[in-house]
Amino acid sequence: MDMSKTEKRADAPKAHNEGVYHLQLKPGDVPGYVILPGAPERVALIAKNWSDVREAAYYREFKTMTGAYKGMRLAATSTGIGGPSSEICIHELNALGVHTCIRVGTTGSITPEFDLGDLIIPVACVRKDGTSSAYVEPEFPAFADIRVVTALTQACEKLGFRYGLGLSYTVGSFYVGQGRPLSEGGYWPSFAEKIIPDLQQARVTNIEMETSAQYVVGYLHGMRMGAVLSVIANRALNRWGDEGGEEKACLAACEAMKILGEKD
Ligand code: URA
Repeated sequence: MDMSKTEKRADAPKAHNEGVYHLQLKPGDVPGYVILPGAPERVALIAKNWSDVREAAYYREFKTMTGAYKGMRLAATSTGIGGPSSEICIHELNALGVHTCIRVGTTGSITPEFDLGDLIIPVACVRKDGTSSAYVEPEFPAFADIRVVTALTQACEKLGFRYGLGLSYTVGSFYVGQGRPLSEGGYWPSFAEKIIPDLQQARVTNIEMETSAQYVVGYLHGMRMGAVLSVIANRALNRWGDEGGEEKACLAACEAMKILGEKD
């Protein structure tokens, strides 16, 4: 088939600026080390710790800022909520040469070990994200890169933050799929009642919506992946609140990237 040079390809769409389609970034716009918050607003919270801050792109849920943390060039790109937008983000970052990502997110704790404001570093996840199964069979593990986990634990120790290692349940639902009834008398299947007790039996530590998709897609692309999650929900005690955890997670991710950068 004769495709004219100006014709756009459906199997590899490009942004109007010729960058990757959704992130609208071009090679060289971001360094190899990128922090991944879910919310676009959290990008600025991460960049608060940097010098030479610049907004590189902002399209839909994907906001990217670059800067320097203690002299090391970093970027932060928001992934949006859930597996599908995370997949888009990681796939496109990989196309730009990014090799190391740390997710900074929030989570609900289901064990007494973690309370509001604590940090959880998931070493592995249960894959209920709904996206990674489009990449590889469900038995394939979702796990963090050991170097990234080590750097995150060192960062938390150095900064004096309360943290622990976790086994995360990543699910493509915030309400029924996390055992939260939608409304009085609304849809509430019998299995929903058992989600949290069954996960507690299996010694899962926390529930959130992105990590397993990011770990699997990143691993399959040859990237080093990790995450630091702040507990904003305590499902065992039915309490909700940030308690300063988000800011701590942002700083821990920057410090961990610095540790990794010095080792590389
Ligand atoms: N994120 C989630 O997905 N669930 C929670 O309970 C808190 C944050």
